[in-house]
Amino acid sequence: MSPKSRPNIVLRTATPDDSAVCGQICYNAFSTISLAHHFPPDLPEPNAAIGLLSMMFSSPGFYCVVAESEGRIVGSNCLDERAAICGVGPITVDPGAQNLGVGRALMEAVMDRARQKGAAGIRLVQAAFHNRSLSLYASLGFDVREPLACMQGRTQQRTVPACTVRTAQFADAEACNSLSRRVHGFDRGADLELSIQQGTARVVEREDRITGYSTQLAFFGHTTAETVVDLEALIASAESFGGPGILVPTRNHGLFRWCLSNGLRVVQPMTLMSYGLYNEPAGASLPSILF
Ligand SMILES: CC(C)(COP(=O)(O)OP(=O)(O)OC[C@H]1O[C@@H](n2cnc3c(N)ncnc32)[C@H](O)[C@@H]1OP(=O)(O)O)[C@@H](O)C(=O)NCCC(=O)NCCS
Repeated sequence: MSPKSRPNIVLRTATPDDSAVCGQICYNAFSTISLAHHFPPDLPEPNAAIGLLSMMFSSPGFYCVVAESEGRIVGSNCLDERAAICGVGPITVDPGAQNLGVGRALMEAVMDRARQKGAAGIRLVQAAFHNRSLSLYASLGFDVREPLACMQGRTQQRTVPACTVRTAQFADAEACNSLSRRVHGFDRGADLELSIQQGTARVVEREDRITGYSTQLAFFGHTTAETVVDLEALIASAESFGGPGILVPTRNHGLFRWCLSNGLRVVQPMTLMSYGLYNEPAGASLPSILF
């Protein structure tokens, strides 16, 4: 493909058989951009990307597309359709085929899909240092909503007074979903249910009721709480955070300073962006890498 010519792009639905090729592209794309900016890659090795895409390409809760040019796969994108708000990612284009319109086509495909499904909105999280993805999403209509710090470590404070953190049970789901509806205006029940099944979900209780939950204290987990104190209790309960870290909204000044004073380190800056419906959270929360 000539670097200056716009390729003829064909989009189609992804299948599990595409996972190996798309996973390698995903790993190459993320590690190339991160290392060029001297940040650690989001995915440690190609198999992590292949496993992630294999799960998404075979899950009924996700709509996934691949882009082909001259009969060769050059990129892929995924849409999490499990809630009233859809989440985009990971979107990746082969480093040799970037800046030629493939990413825009992959984004338009999932945005069309979300509109067809009647989603109230679409969200994503991008690496704040990545000029191209920021520009692409903004030009497609996504608004910058929340600056985030991906943070890693183990808090010095291990518990928060009056808060009890425990593993979430299926019986907790309705209280957690109701909390999410109060804080965000919608729930993420399917994501929560899967995390309870996998044993990664936690709840925090204060005054004998659930005041927060986390699907996982990790890059791919989201956390929703009534107050900053409830959120701190959940964060303090984790021995470590899965993947590169948790995504802390830095405009939540008290929370961010609490994380810093507890020894957590900033790994990289990121940005939550939204298209369509967006409500400022009426509580405290950590988005996942999808939203
Ligand atoms: C981000 C990514 C998916 C975009 O795909 P792509 O095929 O390279 O992007 P496209 O060519 O479709 O679109 C890029 C747009 O940004 C514009 N752009 C690029 N750099 C820019 C800059 N510094 N300032 C303003 N606009 C810029 C381009 O002109 C283009 O706009 P246009 O469609 O109006 O011409 C791809 O670069 C990638 O895989 N990056 C590494 C992995 C990654 O970061 N993924 C995103 C995770 S959130």
